[in-house]
Amino acid sequence: MTPPDPKPGATGCEVLAQTLGPLADCWGSEQALSIDGQPLSARIPHTPAFLYNRRCLDRAVTHLRDHLPAELGIHYAIKANPFAPLVRHMAGLIDGFDCASLAEMQLAQGMAQPGQQLSIAGPAKSRAEHRFAIEQGITINAESTGEIERIAAAAQTVGCQARVALRVNPPFGLKGSGMHMGGGARPFGIDSEAIPALLERRHQLAEAGIDLVGLHLFAGSQSLDSDAIGKALDAWMDLLEQWQLTTAFTPRELIVGPGLGVAYHPGDRPLDLAQLAPTFSRLGNRIRALGEREGIRIDARLELGRFLVAGAGVYLTRVVDRKISRGTTYLLCDGGMHHHLALSGNLGAVLRRNWPLVAVDRMDEPATEEVDLAGPLCTPLDVLGKSQALPSLAPGDWVAILQSGAYAASASPSGFLSRDTAIEYLI
Ligand SMILES: Cc1ncc(COP(=O)(O)O)c(C=O)c1O
Repeated sequence: MTPPDPKPGATGCEVLAQTLGPLADCWGSEQALSIDGQPLSARIPHTPAFLYNRRCLDRAVTHLRDHLPAELGIHYAIKANPFAPLVRHMAGLIDGFDCASLAEMQLAQGMAQPGQQLSIAGPAKSRAEHRFAIEQGITINAESTGEIERIAAAAQTVGCQARVALRVNPPFGLKGSGMHMGGGARPFGIDSEAIPALLERRHQLAEAGIDLVGLHLFAGSQSLDSDAIGKALDAWMDLLEQWQLTTAFTPRELIVGPGLGVAYHPGDRPLDLAQLAPTFSRLGNRIRALGEREGIRIDARLELGRFLVAGAGVYLTRVVDRKISRGTTYLLCDGGMHHHLALSGNLGAVLRRNWPLVAVDRMDEPATEEVDLAGPLCTPLDVLGKSQALPSLAPGDWVAILQSGAYAASASPSGFLSRDTAIEYLI
């Protein structure tokens, strides 16, 4: 059962449990945020820093697998966190990687284990990306008909077939998602109404160097609504079954983005995978049946990032100064938006909301005051927290921002104001 929202006066332990659900106990003891019994402030030499917790990564992947049918593998979307030691660790846990650039493909190639599969998605891919993917047998998720032509040209140059999956822009979005990437007009994917004609042309495309291996289905991310996730996955399967009937196309590869979200803000509840298990099981059954109609086993993967890595990361910052300005207490910290843009509300949020933030060495103490936390940048955008409930902190005390394992270090303007970058650790 999900614990209730932390109340004003909640301890760090309560915030941790509310935010991370089953992953919370990877972060240690009652008094201090810890790994293997050692407080983070004793394990890390300085702040600001990102710390990623191996055991928490293991737990996140195992927890998901425990709720998936055998038909569904897991692809890690490197864009969520491309820190090389973390990607290497993930390679031991998952079945393949989703890449978004040449550098991510090269990283994944170096880490992937035998039999693991790679794919690349994203609009406006470069010629170098197409060539590299074709040479290495990486599946290219085609985002437009123009891209299919460019892939065919690259395949001619390289002299071998390109493995291509059509990325579909569906007629629906993923309801409740923080990031809509499907439905309506989109730069991503090929509109679903144009897909059947392309599937009909698959033999012609094969002559032009395009091996149409499958489909890539991704409508949105960061959804905490199990019903909406279930409805979107059902709607995808309706489309696929309809296309099989009308075009006799059965994908050999299927990559499906479920859009599983994590709890970032007050009021958010972590997804309950037990509730989603019937949805995944239905998806697995429908995929199996789709393949059986053609006498094949479809290689199907769920493609996701933040759900696997967000909870395994914390951003650690230290209070440098405490001041009161006209009645508001400020904690001025050594970390800020240049390392963690999303925390400041400037990475796609319409309105900034507070993040789960705890006092690293005082996890068992109830919050006794509300404070604003700001970073070192000379801009009002550099906000870490507003009216945030915490125990009373002084210069030198450490603060951890939870859920910082995804879209944080690599998604932030680290060159802004020419300050030091945050060091990343995997422990
Ligand atoms: C194509 C694609 N796959 C996977 C992801 C990963 O999404 P998430 O980290 O929310 O699981 C994204 C995120 O934007 C994406 O665009």
